[in-house]
Amino acid sequence: MGSQIRLLGLCLWMYLSSLSFIGAGAVYGREGEVVKGIVLVHGKTAIGRIDDDSVCATLDWWPPQKCDYGKCSWGHASLLNLDLNNKILLNAVKAFSPLKIRLGGTLQDKVMYGTEDCRQPCTPFVLNANEMFGFTQGCLPMYRWDELNSFFQKAGAKVVFGLNALAGKSMKSGSAVGPWNYTNAESLIRYTVRKKYTIHGWELGNELCGSGIGASVAADQYASDVAALRNIVENAYRGIEPKPLVIAPGGFFDSDWFKEFISKSGKSADVITHHIYNLGPGVDDHLTEKILDPSYLDGEANTFSSLKGILQSSSTSVKSWVGEAGGAYNSGHHLVSDAFVYSFWYLDQLGMSAVYDTRTYCRQSLIGGNYGLLNTSTFVPNPDYYSALLWHRLMGGRVLLTTFYGTKKIRTYAHCAKESVSKILYLYMVYVLYVKSDLILSYRKGSQY
Ligand SMILES: *[C@@H]1O[C@H](CO)[C@@H](O)[C@H](O)[C@H]1NC(C)=O
Ligand SMILES: *[C@@H]1O[C@H](CO)[C@@H](O)[C@H](O)[C@H]1NC(C)=O
Repeated sequence: MGSQIRLLGLCLWMYLSSLSFIGAGAVYGREGEVVKGIVLVHGKTAIGRIDDDSVCATLDWWPPQKCDYGKCSWGHASLLNLDLNNKILLNAVKAFSPLKIRLGGTLQDKVMYGTEDCRQPCTPFVLNANEMFGFTQGCLPMYRWDELNSFFQKAGAKVVFGLNALAGKSMKSGSAVGPWNYTNAESLIRYTVRKKYTIHGWELGNELCGSGIGASVAADQYASDVAALRNIVENAYRGIEPKPLVIAPGGFFDSDWFKEFISKSGKSADVITHHIYNLGPGVDDHLTEKILDPSYLDGEANTFSSLKGILQSSSTSVKSWVGEAGGAYNSGHHLVSDAFVYSFWYLDQLGMSAVYDTRTYCRQSLIGGNYGLLNTSTFVPNPDYYSALLWHRLMGGRVLLTTFYGTKKIRTYAHCAKESVSKILYLYMVYVLYVKSDLILSYRKGSQY
C-alpha cells in the first residue's frame, strides 16, 4: 500500500431504534473527503454461530527443501523440525488460550507413524521429483509426537490431527481406489489414548475430495473410510468423554461430491472441512489488487452459501469448518501474504465465513511458507497474527446480519460481543473494513439497554 496509513477521523455513532435492528451512521473523512454510509445491524436473531475457539491455524509437514517458483519459504517450520522450545512460539499460541491448531497439509497422506507395530524404518521425507508432491513418504517418530503433545499441552492448544487417508489405496489414473488401511492410524490413535494426550479432532485426508490434488477418492469410498475412523475412535476412546471429533474431508468444495459425501457419511462425521485458496497462485504479482477488490472478495461467498445449503437440507447436525485457508496457494507471496494488506483478505474471510455459519476457520499457516501468522525464521508475529488475536478476543459466538448502505469498499460484520452478558445488557461489535489505498480498521463497541 503505497501511501501512508493514517487513522482516519472515523466517527461512528450508534443509535438504538428498535429491538429488531440497530442502526449506525458512519461518517469518515480523508483529506477533506467525506463519505457517508449507514450500517444496519439486525440484532434480533443470530444468523450463524462460531465456536468460542473459532480461530485456528495450521502446522504443516513441508520440509526445508519445499520450494515454489524457485523460493524455499518453509525453513524449519515442519511438524518434524519446528523449534518447540522457542519462547515466542509458546507465548504466541498461549495468548489465545485456546488456539485450535490443525496438523496436516499436502504431505499428510504420505506420512507413516512410527508406532511399535510399524515394520518400516521411521525416516523423514526425501526430495524426489518422481514422487507425488515431489517427496517420498515420511514418518512421524513417536518421540516427536510426544514432544509435540507436550508443547500443545503447555501452550493450551486444541489439536486437530490430519490422518493419512491414502494408506492401503492403489492409484488408478489419478484415482486412489480400495478401502483405507487404517492399521497404522489406529496404532497412532491408541498410542495417543494410552499417553493421555488430548486430541480435539481426528481428520481424515487432505485435498482428496472432488477432483483431488494429486489423487482423488470417490465420495462413497470416502464415506465408508470415515465410518471406519468413527469406529476406531468409538472403540479407542471407550469410557472417555468427551470423545474427539471425527472430521473430513479437508479438501476443496465440489458441490456434487460434498452432497454425496454428506448424505452417505451423515452419522460418521461431526465436522465437514473445506479448504480455500481463492487468491490463486502465490507467484501472481497482482494479489494486492485482488485483495482490495470487493467484488473479488465476494466471489468466495458462493462456496460458503452452497455448502450451508447442502448441510441445511441434509438433516444432519454436522457442522462446517474451513480446515485450511492460505489465500494464495504454493506458499503465498512474500511481502503480501506476510504483510499488513493480507488482513483485508483474512479478516474479511473470518467475517464472511461466520455469516454462513462456519464454526472454525484454520489459517494456513501458524508458521511456515510466506503466509505464516509468525515469521518463519524469527517467530515474530506478522500483522495477521494480531488480526487473528483481535478477532478471537472480540467476536462472540452469535453472528448478526448487517447491511451497509454506502461504498462497497466498506464491509461490515457484527457479532455479539465475546463476554457472556445478560440479555438486558446487549453488547455488540461492529467491525468495519475500509478498503482503499489507505485504511481504517475499526472496532467499536456499543451497548443497548
Ligand atoms: C495394512 O497395513 C499394515 C501395515 O501398516 C500391513 O501389515 C497390513 O498387511 C495391511 N493390511 C492389508 C489388508 O493390506
Ligand atoms: C522475517 O524475518 C526475516 C529475518 O529477520 C526477514 O528477513 C523477513 O523479511 C521477515 N519477514 C517479514 C514478513 O517480516
